[in-house]
Amino acid sequence: MSESESQVRPITLTHGDRIPPRAAVPVVPPPEKHAGGEIELVELSADHPGFFDATYRQRRNEIARLALNYVDGAPVPRVEYTPQEHAVWRDVCEHLKPLHERYACREYLDACTRIQLTPDRIPQLEDVNAMLATSGGFRFLPVAGLVSGTMFLSYLAQKTFLSTQYMRHHSVPLYTPEPDVVHELIGHSATLAQPLFAKANEMFGHAAVRLNDSDVMTGVARLYWYSLEFGLVREDGALKAIGAGLLSSFGELERFEKHASIRPFNPEEMAATPYDPTTYQSILYVGESFESMVEQLDRFLQSL
Ligand SMILES: [Fe+2]
Repeated sequence: MSESESQVRPITLTHGDRIPPRAAVPVVPPPEKHAGGEIELVELSADHPGFFDATYRQRRNEIARLALNYVDGAPVPRVEYTPQEHAVWRDVCEHLKPLHERYACREYLDACTRIQLTPDRIPQLEDVNAMLATSGGFRFLPVAGLVSGTMFLSYLAQKTFLSTQYMRHHSVPLYTPEPDVVHELIGHSATLAQPLFAKANEMFGHAAVRLNDSDVMTGVARLYWYSLEFGLVREDGALKAIGAGLLSSFGELERFEKHASIRPFNPEEMAATPYDPTTYQSILYVGESFESMVEQLDRFLQSL
């Protein structure tokens, strides 16, 4: 989710491996003529790890085109991932596994038993959708690039999660400047199979469909950011991650306990607090329990 609905350009990060979850919901930039005369569907910023890699840029365009040609209702197109892309996935999974054991909330870990992602190969969205169909009915719908925050949230009301399919650049496997298939699947897919997570996502969707005021929607987007992307919950006195941005980010999971200011879960304050998607989060909010967090979110969203 972005601070501004008009912010539709990919966000450039300068360090670390953290992912700007839906601060930059994937973008569909206008097609442009490339120097070689080809259509460039996906624009990368000059400091993107893949900016100087012509093969990677072509790959991004290929995967974006799959989504652009996709017609809702058909099976989600399968991406023929390369050995290099599968290797990046394996690398990320290996690094995140011990961190999940230490920091993931129990609801996420429980959901991971229902949505079992293969650690050695990148799962296909269509296959994950088949698992989700028997666990609450959410589904992934492929998108080529950034959509507006309101559009992203509105689809949640239909139990539909807009998702990218591309892989981050292989040169920095623990870093991505945009939400990629790692973030979508490791951060979000299991949560969509967990009833409380799914309910919370749907609540945001219904709020987005109902609300028209852009300032109010900015607050809703911040709330999504601080809860389902970067939220924490207390379990037996320990801090656990519920947010997909945290759960899919090696660097942020490693450091948040020492470096972030941990505040009590407070939807009003969260909706009024801007965030910086270009760096590790300096403020995180922790709920006393996951159930109480969802109740607080529900009450607040319904009050808008
Ligand atoms: Fe996300």
